[in-house]
Amino acid sequence: MNGQPATATPIRFLYRGQVQMVEGVAATTTVLEWLRLSQRALGTKEGCNEGDCGACTVVIGSLDPAAPGGVALRSVNACIHLLAMLDGRLLLTVEDLADPVEGLHPVQQAMVECHGAQCGFCTPGFVMSLFHLYENQPTLPDHAGLCHALAGNLCRCTGYRPILAAAQAAWQAPARRRDRTPWRAALTALAAHPALDYQAPASAGGGRVQAPRSLAALGAALQADPAARVLAGATDIGLWITKLGRSLPHLVHLDRVAELQVLEVRDGCLHIGAAVTHARAWPALQAFYPEVADLARRFASPTVCHAGTLVGNVANGSPIGDAMPLLLALDARLELQCGADVRIVPLAAFYLGYQRTVLTAGEFVRSVLVPVPVPVPVPARSRLACYKVSKRFDQDITAVCAAFRLDLDAGGRIIQARLAWGGMAAIPLRTPGAEAVLEGQDWSEATCARAQVALLTELTPMSDLRASAAYRREVAGNLLQRFWYETSTGIGTPPVRLDQVEASP
Ligand SMILES: Cc1cc2nc3c(=O)[nH]c(=O)nc-3n(C[C@H](O)[C@H](O)[C@H](O)COP(=O)(O)OP(=O)(O)OC[C@H]3O[C@@H](n4cnc5c(N)ncnc54)[C@H](O)[C@@H]3O)c2cc1C
Ligand code: FES
Ligand code: FES
Repeated sequence: MNGQPATATPIRFLYRGQVQMVEGVAATTTVLEWLRLSQRALGTKEGCNEGDCGACTVVIGSLDPAAPGGVALRSVNACIHLLAMLDGRLLLTVEDLADPVEGLHPVQQAMVECHGAQCGFCTPGFVMSLFHLYENQPTLPDHAGLCHALAGNLCRCTGYRPILAAAQAAWQAPARRRDRTPWRAALTALAAHPALDYQAPASAGGGRVQAPRSLAALGAALQADPAARVLAGATDIGLWITKLGRSLPHLVHLDRVAELQVLEVRDGCLHIGAAVTHARAWPALQAFYPEVADLARRFASPTVCHAGTLVGNVANGSPIGDAMPLLLALDARLELQCGADVRIVPLAAFYLGYQRTVLTAGEFVRSVLVPVPVPVPVPARSRLACYKVSKRFDQDITAVCAAFRLDLDAGGRIIQARLAWGGMAAIPLRTPGAEAVLEGQDWSEATCARAQVALLTELTPMSDLRASAAYRREVAGNLLQRFWYETSTGIGTPPVRLDQVEASP
């Protein structure tokens, strides 16, 4: 059921120095729609409307004692961010950057001076991504850091060189960063309001969004309406709204439940709560498993990673989701909660079929538990690698994703093998047949070749727009061979990444 809330609240957030109290819009209204259609704030552009081009980039502020001035800033894609997710937050757009006295913000000034715009359509998005970076990074990032920060912004006419030059110029100019203290005071006042329970009028499209503030309230909300949809970062759900026109009558947002923001090591596991974004989760994983760095860098864009969650990736269960092969290879488990009851299931037992999971009505994923080596680093006899194969390096959907882990004994014999795959079936999966071929054998080229043959029969991938089944199968075997080349350096010797080896002249 989608019962009316006993006490409906408006959506409250800070915008243009004032508290906005929004009512009378559909519950699934995006930030971009509200800006452009209700506010006629046209600086924020609409390009793809699916999180890919960055033309709609805005910056969101929230209370965080660990952040400068007590307010954390993160850039997100307004086209797939729901207005209701702003409740209790600060919204900054390209119109908010210039100072009435001092003029353009340093990143805007640098874009002007370095000729960082031609048609200008992408410019507000670039400016907001640079603003986010500038306000969070006192020192100029290196070239790779700048490129990564802008990986979610596309420009089709200026070219990226002047934009990167503008970025450098902004940091080289006298520093002028925003004072976050006034925002903290206003956000603290907003936090005193009751938890969001917004009911949109039928005339505006209807729909309800709740944002409970405790695990108990979240559990109760989902039990009261098992048809309600859990809303995390909306980087999948946003596209269901903008591209598929799906009806979502009741959304329950996880972000305000403090217990779901947990990111800590306990009992030999890294606990990653359901509200932890990719931007926080991947560096934590990387601290224990440095081998994930390349996959982490290529996972979406910073703007998507500032909103989307690791648990959302797992719960959504897309066969081409990038986190699952790695988590399968690391023997991750999921903590599931229904009402007040909690159970733990191995990730390997979570998926039942294409986007079908063991979650029961009213149940949600509370956290993912990833076993971590204590102390770090990974024991020298463990071998781990993950690979993403896609047509484009940045921001592309995976054709094949693989994560391999081998535990070897002192003599180099494989004690346990885990070969996990995305893009190879209707669900992320391991290949027990090929793993059995490896286990008990020396990690040699001949063993690897036998496992490659086993993979050919065990994997039955699909053909789609991204790759044919034959291509995927061949790539799978090649990736295992690459893993052999990279990890055959002998026990106790660090693996070598083939893409980091200088080509011979
Ligand atoms: C431009 C772009 C690039 C992307 N690039 C990548 C990429 O490189 N690799 C990749 O794997 N993915 C990518 N994605 C997909 C997306 O970012 C991830 O799947 C994301 O992790 C989903 O998390 P979310 O918090 O946004 O989930 P939401 O969109 O809020 O929810 C997704 C689904 O999961 C459910 N759900 C969420 N949390 C829970 C929970 N705790 N319990 C139960 N159900 C839950 C929701 O009900 C919904 O069904 C990309 C998306 C975009 C828009
Ligand atoms: S309009 Fe392209 S990312 Fe939002
Ligand atoms: S300036 Fe035209 S798309 Fe970038």
